[in-house]
Amino acid sequence: MKKGILIFTLLFCSVLLFMNMDVKKKDKVEELLSKMTLEEKIGQMNQYSSFFDATGPAPKNDGYQKERYEHIKNGLVGSMLNVRGAKQVREMQKIAVENSRLGIPLIFGFDVIHGHKTVFPIPLAEAASWDLEAIQNGARVAAIEAAAEGLNWTFAPMVDISRDARWGRVMEGAGEDPYLGSQIAIARVTGFQGDDLSANNTLAACAKHFAGYGFAESGKDYNTADVGTSTLYNVILPPFKAAKDAGVRTFMNSFNELNGIPATGDKYLQRDLLKGKWNFKGFIVSDWGSIGEMIAHGHAADGPHAAELALRAGSDMDMESHLYIHQLKSLIEQGKAKEAHIDEAVKRILQVKMDLGLFDDPYKYCDEAREKELIYHKDHRAAALDMAKKSIVLLKNEGNLLPLKKEGESIAIIGPLANDKNSPLGNWRLGSEDNIAVSVWEGMSEYNKSNKLELAQGVRLIDENPNFPSHVKINYTDKNGMDEAVKLAKKSDKVILVLGEHGYQSGEGRSRSDIGLPGLQQELLEKIHAVNPNIILVLMNGRPLALPWADENVPAIVEAWQLGIETGNAVAEVLYGDYNPSGKLPMTFPRDVGQVPIYYNYKNTGRPGPKNEVFWSHYTDMTNDPLYHFGHGLSYTTFKYSNLKTSINKENKKVTVEITIKNTGDYDGTEIAQLYIRDKVATITRPVKELKGFQKLELKKGESVNHTFTLTEKELGYFDNQGEFMFEAGDFDIMVGGSSKTELSETVNIAW
Ligand code: NOJ
Repeated sequence: MKKGILIFTLLFCSVLLFMNMDVKKKDKVEELLSKMTLEEKIGQMNQYSSFFDATGPAPKNDGYQKERYEHIKNGLVGSMLNVRGAKQVREMQKIAVENSRLGIPLIFGFDVIHGHKTVFPIPLAEAASWDLEAIQNGARVAAIEAAAEGLNWTFAPMVDISRDARWGRVMEGAGEDPYLGSQIAIARVTGFQGDDLSANNTLAACAKHFAGYGFAESGKDYNTADVGTSTLYNVILPPFKAAKDAGVRTFMNSFNELNGIPATGDKYLQRDLLKGKWNFKGFIVSDWGSIGEMIAHGHAADGPHAAELALRAGSDMDMESHLYIHQLKSLIEQGKAKEAHIDEAVKRILQVKMDLGLFDDPYKYCDEAREKELIYHKDHRAAALDMAKKSIVLLKNEGNLLPLKKEGESIAIIGPLANDKNSPLGNWRLGSEDNIAVSVWEGMSEYNKSNKLELAQGVRLIDENPNFPSHVKINYTDKNGMDEAVKLAKKSDKVILVLGEHGYQSGEGRSRSDIGLPGLQQELLEKIHAVNPNIILVLMNGRPLALPWADENVPAIVEAWQLGIETGNAVAEVLYGDYNPSGKLPMTFPRDVGQVPIYYNYKNTGRPGPKNEVFWSHYTDMTNDPLYHFGHGLSYTTFKYSNLKTSINKENKKVTVEITIKNTGDYDGTEIAQLYIRDKVATITRPVKELKGFQKLELKKGESVNHTFTLTEKELGYFDNQGEFMFEAGDFDIMVGGSSKTELSETVNIAW
């Protein structure tokens, strides 16, 4: 008993101490603010990109670069992006801390998106693992490496939901579903930020892009988003709210206009909703130049007007528009901007710097010995391999072509991506060296020496622009390697064809109107199929692709996305069956680009059928069904779902859903069991299916387990058109299975 009291007292005292430390930090921020001139305050709201070159942070003698250097010296810059390296960050930090009047440290931001030096799978691939622990760990590893390079802040996670495979940035998100997207947002924020932001191995995270960027019309990057309130509140905003609730310290607004207002200047989104109703305490950074872009949007008349609108809307930091630094002072003098808004923004920014511990030691992230020790640490590679294996999705495996036999086979490995060491690093690998991925060819030939493996490129996928390696042009003409590849395929028992997109064919500014195989790859596929149909198609891509021919003709298809540094090793383990794939698609794969936007949680419409008449919601030349539906993913074993039992506990306002899952095949395996609901009658119509729970279950061959899901009002309710959450009692379909094409269902009346 006494021990209990002692523990309680200790706990109580530490909470008080913690609260007291928090108050002290706040006081410190207030105190510092009171010493700052208006110019210095505005300086904190100003973010520049690096003007570093190979020789370090010396400014070039060129006008604007010199200005940036002077600005840092004079305390007129709050943050730098794209400076990295313990030494480089230290030198840049020194300029600010040792020269400016108040010595306020800079905060260093960088796009640490999927790993840092040790490159992890692209975020869309990681989402296919549905493995929150592994995803959190991936962000943790990225933070450890980035922080060791002097960085304090990542512009991640991107939590934009998207239903449009044409949009190049789907590679950077968690796919189409708000529930899965929210869980992943929490995992990533927690991974980056850790338990203690002031530790030297954590980064402040940034939920971006607030909001609606993933709904760019026609999938064209930066395009207008025109979205109804129901979609805004129920689909777009939930992952942002989840990130906020998980304690994310910053938000980034977005390039797009949303319902007529550029997000950067949207007061409702930023000041009223995020900072107001959601009570977000961190700061909001603009996207690159997005304050200035409000002029092109036709929302701001000129630079001063853009700065005025952005500040009023609640954008705290200007990334590379240079408008706050040049315009805010005169806007205040003219009475067009409120100093209270500036004070509020600066307090938010200083608070994050304080929480990062930068005021205690501005160089705490700049230890070159730590940097050496931690970058490419062997544990990081092991985590990258683990994540890569978990991200692979087995789309098709007819006649159990996979797994491969371990000896006595001749295997041709063919395709423009088969021995590519760069493309598997994906688009957002700013921190990485080029060509450091283990290619499929390397991974496969190292993994097993008892089969006979031979390599042919077949066709080239791209012509890289040597001056700007991230710019690629698709190769449509060079067929020189085609015959050699076909010959090799003909004499081999099996063909592993590695096709898809180059890492730089998705990502920012890389929208596509044709989402088939780029260049000559389809021709190569068909020619090889004509001589040897025993094809295992390994896909590498940053978005869902439309591949109806492959689906119809190729017996085995493996979705390997862009899996990062350990790509080839992960693919080899899966193809040889030493790792049984368990990934599930986080985004629907269409049959044809004409079906886009296509997503599993659509609304029923008034005319969902019958299918034998003209006047219902369908295409006359194509089925409504996707090629591969959301949540789909096979295993080398099979699973059977049974015994769905739903119980309603009115007192606790809880519904429990019990199921039995049995491994009925020949291998041990992992299944991701998925729970969906349909609210059958609602004031605001609800989708035909909504994911509301999932569980990863490891099952030995022949083993069977029971699992119980729990639903509360949080899962059963939805947001009305004013953004208010509500639960409406009534009939719900409860559906469970191994994909969004669920196997079991029951209709229950839920009321309390
Ligand atoms: C523009 C992108 O939209 C954003 O996501 C990124 O963080 C910034 N550039 C900084 O690189």
